[in-house]
Amino acid sequence: MRGSRVAVIGANGQLGTDLVKVFDEWDLVPLTHADVEICDYAQTRQVLKAIRPDFVINTAAFVRVDDCEEEVGKAFSVNAFAVRSLAQICADLDCTLVHISTDYVFDGKKGEPYTEEDLTNPINVYGASKLAGEHFVQAICEKHLIIRTSGLYGKAGSSGKGGNFVETMIRLAQEGKPIRVIDDQVFSPTYARDLAVLIEEAVQKGACGLHHFANSGQCSWYEFAGKIFELLGLNPEFSATTASKFGAKARRPAYSVLGSAKLGGSVSAWRAWEESLAAYLLDTQRTCVESEPDA
Ligand SMILES: NC(=O)c1ccc[n+]([C@@H]2O[C@H](COP(=O)([O-])OP(=O)(O)OC[C@H]3O[C@@H](n4cnc5c(N)ncnc54)[C@H](OP(=O)(O)O)[C@@H]3O)[C@@H](O)[C@H]2O)c1
Repeated sequence: MRGSRVAVIGANGQLGTDLVKVFDEWDLVPLTHADVEICDYAQTRQVLKAIRPDFVINTAAFVRVDDCEEEVGKAFSVNAFAVRSLAQICADLDCTLVHISTDYVFDGKKGEPYTEEDLTNPINVYGASKLAGEHFVQAICEKHLIIRTSGLYGKAGSSGKGGNFVETMIRLAQEGKPIRVIDDQVFSPTYARDLAVLIEEAVQKGACGLHHFANSGQCSWYEFAGKIFELLGLNPEFSATTASKFGAKARRPAYSVLGSAKLGGSVSAWRAWEESLAAYLLDTQRTCVESEPDA
């Protein structure tokens, strides 16, 4: 398989940047938004037909969850209808579509990690549009791998969101402003580089169907921020708040931890989110505070 031709859509996005690095032993064709507009069916078809890929990895999405509530047409155009087009094109070209989806397809009421078999029930426009995208892939492109992930942060930062949560917390701490972080939404923060490594391994091993990939363990956004400050030895004025007090436009699931058990032994063991966060901080040249040895 390594050596096969792989087109990565969204190649300079947060996940796309790490995918491009990790797929270095493949015949990789990186496609940025300037190279391909997935909402333009004819252009996308022409670009992919010329490349003749064995795999297309689609990381492109309209990821600004709050803006999706108002820009419903755009959310469905990018996250659902363009994905339908990609599925059609990949089916016609007889290549495998690897498509990235989200934990926000769930309503958050389960209270324990979601498996691939759990019923979906999105509670915001972003989640509904991403779920529609999944359905199109499953219905149209037989050769597919759908990967749901959660709480992504990577060295490139999300181009859609303008950075990532870790960088935002560090910046706010350095600015000395009081920081309030939501404590009633629990999820699995996931390092984009780890996800990219797992995707490469899954593609190499011929994985197909629907899979959950997230760093293991769980935390609230408040706990995540606390760990960032602890690892960096920062002491900002920092308090917990609730989602309702925070008042974001889109509702988000209160609990969206993804159980990543389905791939079992076929891929490397997942790192705990705390370990991956420490790795990210080192990869971005931060000095972490030495932790106390266990008593
Ligand atoms: N970020 C998260 O916390 C998170 C959590 C769960 C799942 N996911 C999923 O993970 C995937 C990757 O997310 P990410 O954080 O890497 O996002 P990102 O940094 O915003 O990257 C998305 C990339 O797609 C490109 N793109 C956007 N619209 C496009 C279009 N219409 N045609 C072609 N290219 C387009 C963007 O280019 P421009 O910026 O130049 O437009 C960007 O390079 C997405 O499917 C997302 O739904 C993300």
